[in-house]
Amino acid sequence: MCGIVGYVGERPCKELLLAGLERLEYRGYDSAGICLLNGDVAITRRVGRVDALREAVGDALHPATTGLAHTRWATHGGVTESNAHPVEACEGSGVTVVHNGIIENYVGLRRDLAGAGHEFHTDTDSEVIAHLVESQYSGDLVEAVRLAYAQLHGHFAFAVLHRDHADEIVAARRQCPLVVGVGEGEMFMASAIPAFLRETRRVQYVMDDEIVVARPDGATFLDPRGTVIERPVEDVDWDDDAAEKQGYETFMLKEILEQPQAIADTIGERLYHGELQLDGLNLSEEQIRGLSRVVILACGTAYHAGLIGRYLLEEWARLPAESDIASEWRYRHPVIDEHSLVIAVSQSGETIDTLAAMKEARDHGAHVLAVTNIMGSQMTRDADSVLYTRAGLEIGVAASKTFTAQVTLMYLLALKLGLVRGTIATERAAKLLAEVRSLPDLAQRTLDRIDAVEPVAERFWQNEFFLYLGRYIGLPIALEGALKLKEISYIPTDAYAAGEMKHGPIALLDESTPVVVVATDNHVYEKVISNVEEVRARGAHVIAVATDGNEDIKQVAEHVFYLPRTEPELQAALAILPLQQLAYGIARRRGLDIDKPRNLAKTVTVE
Ligand code: G6P
Repeated sequence: MCGIVGYVGERPCKELLLAGLERLEYRGYDSAGICLLNGDVAITRRVGRVDALREAVGDALHPATTGLAHTRWATHGGVTESNAHPVEACEGSGVTVVHNGIIENYVGLRRDLAGAGHEFHTDTDSEVIAHLVESQYSGDLVEAVRLAYAQLHGHFAFAVLHRDHADEIVAARRQCPLVVGVGEGEMFMASAIPAFLRETRRVQYVMDDEIVVARPDGATFLDPRGTVIERPVEDVDWDDDAAEKQGYETFMLKEILEQPQAIADTIGERLYHGELQLDGLNLSEEQIRGLSRVVILACGTAYHAGLIGRYLLEEWARLPAESDIASEWRYRHPVIDEHSLVIAVSQSGETIDTLAAMKEARDHGAHVLAVTNIMGSQMTRDADSVLYTRAGLEIGVAASKTFTAQVTLMYLLALKLGLVRGTIATERAAKLLAEVRSLPDLAQRTLDRIDAVEPVAERFWQNEFFLYLGRYIGLPIALEGALKLKEISYIPTDAYAAGEMKHGPIALLDESTPVVVVATDNHVYEKVISNVEEVRARGAHVIAVATDGNEDIKQVAEHVFYLPRTEPELQAALAILPLQQLAYGIARRRGLDIDKPRNLAKTVTVE
């Protein structure tokens, strides 16, 4: 949460910083601020979006060529102008800080610093960083930051400016992301690459527990003892256009429509002429055969992809598999050992709970495989092996294409393990692989059927509650479909295992309730239809997701979203598509800010 942007160089930086913040707004958008260093520090902060900050600073050219900016997602301290960043140390100290993450020991530090005479102006945990740097400063800003850093507990990234160090930004990170953009005679610093992608594609990653000093001619990396570390400059091949909407009304719509490509890219060369190769898996065939169980850990949408993975691994690789929410599992005293494979799934690769769960898993000796969309993310450094989804940059806060890419990777992974373990018949595997190959095409055909979804959005967009039901592989889809609707339309939803409905949610049904049921062709289809009858008997309106050719379902459902026919397990990757479109159509009719739903953030770097 929270986005940091910094610049030090030769160009007036106000506009560069604001443009960078706009690219990072998905990380938090309850307030924003900027600090421009030009002899003195000029700070402007505003509650609200970056637009409000832009208006406050005005159009006039500001000569500052060094500055920091921040977009906030509040954790400690309410959403007020005084709690927005940059935060300052004591008046006249010249120290200004922007911060992302949490300082866990801030209460004690604040008490000690206040006792030593420091005056606090905010309710944030961040302010202790500014005062600590001030208290350690005696002419050497880098040393002051290093000493301050050593006293902080928690997970964070922060950057510091000092009035008397005109060409210098000093920053540090522990678990929260920070990356340096390398220009000609100028350097950028940011929470994520898109912030400076228009200016440079050359990056240096700041690693965990490092301090970085950016000056116009380059960046220096230090470990906590102050020893210099060499860090290569790497090129990122992201297309800047990918970070633009390209004419779509929202990023989310663009990303929903990009799913066939995301699936195709995730499959890529991994599946070639029927041969499945997962470079990066980094497990020998002997290790795969020696596995005793698999645990999939994730948060949010990635957790739903993990639930699908669980079914696949059980079915195809015949491995005991479970999927859990990372923030729960990490406190569960889990039973795992060196024969366990722990798969951490995360779009960003930076979600703090998933990172913590990975650490727990590694401490128990398990092999940890990261499945993520972001190269160089923290997760890729903490894992024993990494498989990338290749969905491209996802800006919309509510995940869409990264979900289908994660599900696709689960197909590949479960098939690979099944083939090596000899638990899936070669013929069946060949059939499934051929179907996986055609998934991009099937996804395109599914998305092209938007005409079936729009009338349903039109009919129900004013309803105040939706129930989602599914069984087996349809359950995670029901969960994800419900999450999409709640995230972007703010309509309360419940998602349940269809067989479990009669133990509770059935009490919520009346003649006005829309009930979305995932009823694709598979071995539990008849059971799902029995549950649909129970819904109908209460007068609720059934919206079904079903397989092409199933005409009977029209007897029990008022609306049907049909999917092209494929293998039962693979229907999961398709079934979510009309449900994303439904959520989108409803949120659009409600006139909401779809790309930036209230209170949510794309990357959650707090527990
Ligand atoms: C946030 C996002 C979700 C995402 C979840 C997990 O809640 O809004 O879209 O699914 O974090 O994020 P990750 O990056 O670990 O997949």
